[in-house]
Amino acid sequence: MKTVSTFQRLKDNNEKIVMLTAYDYSTAKVLEESEIDGILVGDSLAMVALGYENTYNITIDEMLIFIQAVSRGAKNSFIIGDMPFMSYNLNLSQGLENASKMIKAGANAIKLEGCNDYILSLVKRCVESGIPVLGHLGFTPQLMNTIGGHKIQGKTAESIELILESAKKLEEAGCFAVVLELLPAESAKYITDNLKIPTIGIGAGVNCSGQIVVTDDITGKFTDFTPKFVKKYTNLHDIVLSGIQEYKNEVKRELFPSPEESFELSENEKEKLTQA
Ligand code: KIV
Repeated sequence: MKTVSTFQRLKDNNEKIVMLTAYDYSTAKVLEESEIDGILVGDSLAMVALGYENTYNITIDEMLIFIQAVSRGAKNSFIIGDMPFMSYNLNLSQGLENASKMIKAGANAIKLEGCNDYILSLVKRCVESGIPVLGHLGFTPQLMNTIGGHKIQGKTAESIELILESAKKLEEAGCFAVVLELLPAESAKYITDNLKIPTIGIGAGVNCSGQIVVTDDITGKFTDFTPKFVKKYTNLHDIVLSGIQEYKNEVKRELFPSPEESFELSENEKEKLTQA
């Protein structure tokens, strides 16, 4: 069973941490089979599973349904629930209450974005209450409107130092790891080398302690947009489409269902039908 200690042990042993997203039961089952180190039920599901344009519309109650499904499919995996937009920003009791809902739904930890005095207090309160927290710095999608779009972060020495300062504060507050999103590889390396806790990169180069990507991106199932940092390992969209087209053709030509996929009536009963 993987835990927060697995993450630290892997970093300390210079072994890469492998993470992916899952939103549903059957994907979670495959991820569990692959024995990766952690599964994130990311708020990216707002776009990938629900078709929203960004992550703003997903609510805590919707997230809980997906966390429950993933935890049923990956009973022995380390599952992290992503706290959605404004589900932890109002006050500490709102943040703690929603974080605890994620744990009760089956997550082993939560992820939240950014770093300021309020976030640091929330991280401390969660950790003190037994809720491990994964931080998220660099490009933070929930702050996209204030950042002004999908912008690469940490492009100057000054901004890299600021991200490192935030990462150190999150480490001190008790985060077990921190996601670094959209950073030049050298910036992410500098931050990783100066932290005790692991960094999990997404679009942040090869030198982070581990990597996370959206499963539907690397399997080619989600095709609305493909960020530069995504490598497609399969093309599920094409595979699924060709299967569906073959099914359609066979239904039209009365090749499906064949006798193999059908149930037969006994001769006796058939005769009765002809007599009627
Ligand atoms: O929502 C998400 O999927 C994320 C990424 C880090 C993968 O936050």
